[in-house]
Amino acid sequence: MEIITAKTAGFCFGVRRAVRLAEEAAEKYGACACLGPLIHNDDVVRYLAGLGIRTVNTTAELRPGEPVIIRSHGVGPEVYRELEKLGCPVIDATCTEVARIHDLVKEESAQGRLVVMIGERRHPEVMAVSAWCGGCTVLESPEEAEKWLLEDPERAKLPLSIVSQTTGERKNFENSVKVIKKQCTNLKVFDTICNTTSNRQREAREIASTVDVMIVIGGRHSANTDKLSRVAAEKCERVLLIENASELDLGLLSVAGRVGVTAGASTPEWIIKEVNRKMCDENKTVETVEEETKAAEVVEEIAQEVNEAPAAEEVAPEAPEASFEELLERSIKTLHTGEKVRGVIASITQTEISVDLGTKQSGYIPISEFTDEPGVNVADIIHVGDEIEAYVMRVNDVEGTVMLSKKRLDSVKNWDSIVEARASRAVVEGTVVEENKGGVVVNVKGVRVFVPASQSGLPKDAPMSELLKRKVKLIIREVNQPRRRVVGSIRDVTAIERRAKAEATWNEIEVGKRYHGVVKSLTSYGAFVDIGGVDGMVHVSELSWKRIHQPSEVLKVGDEIDVYVISFDKETKKISLGYKDPSENPWVKFTSTYNVGSVADVRIVKLMTFGAFAEIVPGVDGLIHISQIADRRIGKPEDVLSEGEVVKAKIINIDNENKKVSLSIRALSEPAAPAPEEPEPEEDDGPVVVYDTENPPAPEELPTEEE
Ligand code: F3S
Repeated sequence: MEIITAKTAGFCFGVRRAVRLAEEAAEKYGACACLGPLIHNDDVVRYLAGLGIRTVNTTAELRPGEPVIIRSHGVGPEVYRELEKLGCPVIDATCTEVARIHDLVKEESAQGRLVVMIGERRHPEVMAVSAWCGGCTVLESPEEAEKWLLEDPERAKLPLSIVSQTTGERKNFENSVKVIKKQCTNLKVFDTICNTTSNRQREAREIASTVDVMIVIGGRHSANTDKLSRVAAEKCERVLLIENASELDLGLLSVAGRVGVTAGASTPEWIIKEVNRKMCDENKTVETVEEETKAAEVVEEIAQEVNEAPAAEEVAPEAPEASFEELLERSIKTLHTGEKVRGVIASITQTEISVDLGTKQSGYIPISEFTDEPGVNVADIIHVGDEIEAYVMRVNDVEGTVMLSKKRLDSVKNWDSIVEARASRAVVEGTVVEENKGGVVVNVKGVRVFVPASQSGLPKDAPMSELLKRKVKLIIREVNQPRRRVVGSIRDVTAIERRAKAEATWNEIEVGKRYHGVVKSLTSYGAFVDIGGVDGMVHVSELSWKRIHQPSEVLKVGDEIDVYVISFDKETKKISLGYKDPSENPWVKFTSTYNVGSVADVRIVKLMTFGAFAEIVPGVDGLIHISQIADRRIGKPEDVLSEGEVVKAKIINIDNENKKVSLSIRALSEPAAPAPEEPEPEEDDGPVVVYDTENPPAPEELPTEEE
């Protein structure tokens, strides 16, 4: 007897996820309820009951606050509202494919379209979908669709949106759509049949057409198992629907040369295995040479179909041929935790990656076990059909599932490179994934590296959270292999980088060279600026053309500024920097605008006993000697002037060397100066007297008016 088992037989990803979520819920809450049997398989429901999951049929049976699992069929919005009222934590195992239909019908009905669902009226998935769009029309067959349109011809004029039950039979859906399409003018069709279902049905049809007996394993209440039997029956006269191995009547197979096996989405792997084993035991009793030959062919087929294809280099050329039993055993072998396996990616959802391991167990990698890298989009890295290697984390024989982890495998693989990096002090890169009391954890190619706060490169009291999700470079300082503990330092890398930059800066520094730097600190006498691994100082007098008292009046720590080198000393490692823009030099501006004899509007900035200082342009003040304030004798400057007042004054002297200016108001009220050929020296202002407006001379040092 040749046995052909469908590759698509067994749990679909929606059911597998539901069972996993239920197990996790049982572990977390101890006891919970499930709204309806989690899957259409009594053995699995019994197993879950053993974990503390009771099945209830309505929300009325729930206890307030009791955790509730929503199965993959989904529920309507009113159920969520009731659960909220009851304060029940919800473990939502609604299949993502089904949830997609909920969103779709909600949107279509919001647009004023009538939703028509091709499916079974009493199926929980169909009832939930209907609830999401405020009630939809359910048609079970093309005949029903025809009747519905005949009943009221106005229906054909309505805007219709057609969806299908995920486990619906494709032919039934397509024929129903055909009927409606003939009459309806405003129609949108959404093929929402789940791929898993259609693939399973297609394979069942293919196998059924080549075998004498087709065995369909699954719950009798399961819609998709029922459809699977119907699909198989189209191609094979003898279809046996069984729930488990105990229902298999081997007598019915006695005359069968080829037997096909498929199973519904709720059938756990171990039941399929048991059915296969039972048939295999029967096969063993067949002793004829002819049957042995057949068995060898089956062995080959099973080996090809279900065994993990070993890598070419792993195949020993002289390997003795495996026996039928060995190969079959291998095909249904149980994987072990910690084992490294290789498989092909079968599907990628938002929560997990399905991996075809070539064995009868279905592998899956929860997204959290794929990588530790934050913000990674898995679909950008891997694709359906790609080969992938992973570690077995947990084997669930009841479900026939294997939880895998790629990140653990990566971590092991990359451990060696971390040890090497420690030895060579090479710089490695990683992403900060965690913050804890003492520092941060950096993921370096799957290896968790602890960076103490003191090595984080952040200032003492800065919050470590600043580093979260950032890519950082670090040096591995310590590797403790037995404890698998790795310690790294970000600061070491910054120090190395700074040293390299400093060397480059010292090599090319020259007077006048301009740098774009960052203000690192401020003191009362100046600002320290990092110009590339080296700090230079800008003296307070070099910060502004205006009179300032503190560097903080102009700069703050962290400012990015342009500076130029005034002087430097490689021996003492000191650099003096300038920040004031030479083109903004107020003296240059002043001398290019004014000459001796010019009249300017000046602002009185300070009154002294010997005169008044007045601002001519910002940054240049001139002195109006008391004798030059008025055309009469005055006691003190404030008798005539006040601070802030703007007056007209004549520039009577400019001392370029000492950058000082003398002004006179009196000169503007005096008669025009005599002709040059008749100078009157006694009327002259006398020798030019200049004043340092910053450090005015003491009154006794000042010349008298006569002098
Ligand atoms: Fe979901 Fe498709 Fe299974 S809809 S529950 S993955 S059959």
